[in-house]
Amino acid sequence: MKINLEIGKSHTTKSNLLVIGMFEKDQPDKHLDEALDNEISSLIKSEEFKGEAGQIKVITTLNKLPARKLLLVGLGKKKEFTLEKLRRAAAASAKAVRNLNIKIYTTTLQSTILDKITLDKAKAVVEGTLLGLYQFTQFKTDKNKIKEIEQITILDNSEKNRRAIDEAIKTSTIICEATNYTRDIVNLPASTANPAYLVNEAKKIAKQNKLKIKVFGKKDLENKGMNCILAVGQGSSQEPKLVILEYNSSKKGGVAIVGKGVCFDSGGLDLKPATYMADMKSDDAGAAAVLGILKAAAQLKINKKIIGIIPLAENMLGSHAYKPGDILTAFNNKTVEVAHTDAEGRLILADSLAYAETLKPDLIIDIATLTGSCVSALGHWATALLTKDEKYPKKLIEAGEETYERVWRLPLWDEYKPLVKSKIADLSNNHLGYDAGCIEGGMFLSNFVENTPHIHLDIAGTGWFSEEKYYHPKGGTGAGVRLLIEFLKKFY
Ligand code: BES
Ligand code: ZN
Ligand code: ZN
Repeated sequence: MKINLEIGKSHTTKSNLLVIGMFEKDQPDKHLDEALDNEISSLIKSEEFKGEAGQIKVITTLNKLPARKLLLVGLGKKKEFTLEKLRRAAAASAKAVRNLNIKIYTTTLQSTILDKITLDKAKAVVEGTLLGLYQFTQFKTDKNKIKEIEQITILDNSEKNRRAIDEAIKTSTIICEATNYTRDIVNLPASTANPAYLVNEAKKIAKQNKLKIKVFGKKDLENKGMNCILAVGQGSSQEPKLVILEYNSSKKGGVAIVGKGVCFDSGGLDLKPATYMADMKSDDAGAAAVLGILKAAAQLKINKKIIGIIPLAENMLGSHAYKPGDILTAFNNKTVEVAHTDAEGRLILADSLAYAETLKPDLIIDIATLTGSCVSALGHWATALLTKDEKYPKKLIEAGEETYERVWRLPLWDEYKPLVKSKIADLSNNHLGYDAGCIEGGMFLSNFVENTPHIHLDIAGTGWFSEEKYYHPKGGTGAGVRLLIEFLKKFY
């Protein structure tokens, strides 16, 4: 889909359909209203259109305007206006246009409230539009039934915004396409998106963006003593892997981002009940986010070193599967008692985090659909952040506010250490109780990074939506891509 910019006025612009944002109790644009014989003001008067957030009203202009249709979209109360409201209005209007079977339209949404910075508003409009229009259509055979927008024109009334809006369109398009790429991987069936498939995707991204790539197969994992990844993957016919991607690899320091890539999580021998297992093809959302982040970072030419580390395994059951009670020696030589085979994410991350530290980054971030407990605590609107560091959390939280991929910190106090204690090994992967599961996960992981700031992000709730909401589709959301790109660009 193409997005381009045009400078002009709404009442003189020719178009199939023109999107106009309106606040509650707003006065309509005089030129438009007059041309339409006051139709907009009478819709407001009769309360057919109130301007409530997300409300849509389509007007056919019958040649009274160069635009054939107007689509009014509600922006809610003016004093409650935020960029997130604009993203949502952009998504609501884009989806409404698509439902009308219109393929090309023009929007004026970024000119809402003129005193706000244009660049941010244009970005929000592109984000709401491109993320909102996402559809996972690969497996639909009747392609004629798929409605798709082909081209969108952003109409701005002033030449002076041209450069800023052009820039905003370019940057946001890259980030949104990367987010949608991540969503695709998460939405793919687990039997398609297995470890080998994700390795192949990583190779493609490396090739397209000239990234350095290393792939460890079973033998390499054995030689390196990455026994936790091996154990989680041993019940599957698909070999586990570890992928390391480096962008700006000749630079020093940088950020290592480690993404949980459990391509399918059956729970292992501690088998999940059917309703909990149903969506577990999404357990590679962290890994998919890392691929999206590297793709976007390279295209945006972010001037920092970024290392992507992706452990990939299927958590299956059978005669080869690892067992409750097994004791594993991780890459950093710590021993781990497997109390629960469904707490597999922290195991594959353990080896990966310890390995990440050997690459000497300034900061290690892991991103993982780690715990059901995170979903119980925060639902789907906050990613949990756990760390013992005090420098980076504020910045990540700020990046979360800006992108509206919001982040909420949970504690990692020493009092929680007993959650990962074992009587017979250095650590246990679970305390077999119901309290503080999300913190337990973070506490476990903190044992695998010694001297580098480390942040754990649990996206179990934010990475997957069971219902469409605003610009998030049902299924994979691409959580972490916009958040971490914003963080890398601005805050690190
Ligand atoms: N992949 C799951 C966590 C999950 C649950 C992600 C729901 C998304 C939605 C993870 O591997 C898991 O099973 N965690 C267990 C850990 C427990 C057995 C210690 C959990 O949270 O229940
Ligand atoms: Zn699990
Ligand atoms: Zn899992």
